[in-house]
Amino acid sequence: MTTPTVTLTGIQPTGELHLGNYAGAVRPLARLAARPPRETYVFVADLHALNGRPDPEQLRDRTRKMAAALLACGLDDDRVHVYRQSRVPAIAQIGALLTNVTSKGTLNRAHAYKALVAANAAAGRDTDHGVNMGLFTYPVLMAADILAMRADEVPVGADQTQHLEIAVELARAFARTYRPGALREPRAVVAQSGGVLPGLDGRKMSKSFGNTIPLFAPPERQARLIRRVVTDSRRPQDPKDPDSCTLVALLDTFADSATARDVRGRYQTGGIGYGDVKALLAEQLHTTLAPLRDRYEALLADPARLEAALEAGERHAGRRAAETLRLMSAAMRL
Ligand code: TRP
Repeated sequence: MTTPTVTLTGIQPTGELHLGNYAGAVRPLARLAARPPRETYVFVADLHALNGRPDPEQLRDRTRKMAAALLACGLDDDRVHVYRQSRVPAIAQIGALLTNVTSKGTLNRAHAYKALVAANAAAGRDTDHGVNMGLFTYPVLMAADILAMRADEVPVGADQTQHLEIAVELARAFARTYRPGALREPRAVVAQSGGVLPGLDGRKMSKSFGNTIPLFAPPERQARLIRRVVTDSRRPQDPKDPDSCTLVALLDTFADSATARDVRGRYQTGGIGYGDVKALLAEQLHTTLAPLRDRYEALLADPARLEAALEAGERHAGRRAAETLRLMSAAMRL
């Protein structure tokens, strides 16, 4: 039997998933997870969220919804383990051990911290204004997430590559200090930027641009948002370039391929207007997302079932992290 590849990723409980998160991260992960031999670990990074001092009730609610969304998006196979980071305490323990092989200089150079320091300096404030240790040591906890599960590959956005480099650095530092090969070195699997989904205004769909379409918003609300997608002023009979149109990008991603191909053809010949494309897109989106939305709503309506699914993931992840903690403790003679 071939050893399965261990795939792991974490997602922050940032509120609602949008179409861009789904197409760019969650769906590719679900597809990857379905390719054996593979064990997949996916968690909601509620501990990471704490450095932003979220309202506790809101954090709990967002964590629950993000976990339900992941399960509803197809990450619910028995080789996929979905869990809440805070419910696997060995991860935080591993993080505490790793701090001792982490040089402060490495964390000084981490992008998020550096950006805050630079913003403070530019504003003439104390450079550490608003910086808590949760933020400063974020990369150590992220390394613990990854190393705890002895992950081989970590699918992430391009903004996370430095964090992956730090995880590798800490695995090596631990090996040098205590025992070669004690921790598995992960590799980043970075999504190609060609796959970026445009939002309502044509820029990358992103919460920070306020141009998103929430994945599980009611279909009427999604249809209303789609009507707001910015297009140019070409009339129905004018030929149009499908490759520069947000609506076509959304159709390519969410419609069946025959429909997307047909619309592309009619753009070139001037055989369709933007209003009709918007209606078609809303309909196709509804068809594609209805089964996911149904699963999501069913999970939220049945807290005991959601809890049971997460507890199963937490037991599995907990066993694996406990084993890593044992290996580390033995190497450290604790
Ligand atoms: N830092 C990641 C992000 O903001 C989330 C995350 C936390 C993560 N721990 C992780 C991603 C471990 C991959 C592996 O997107």
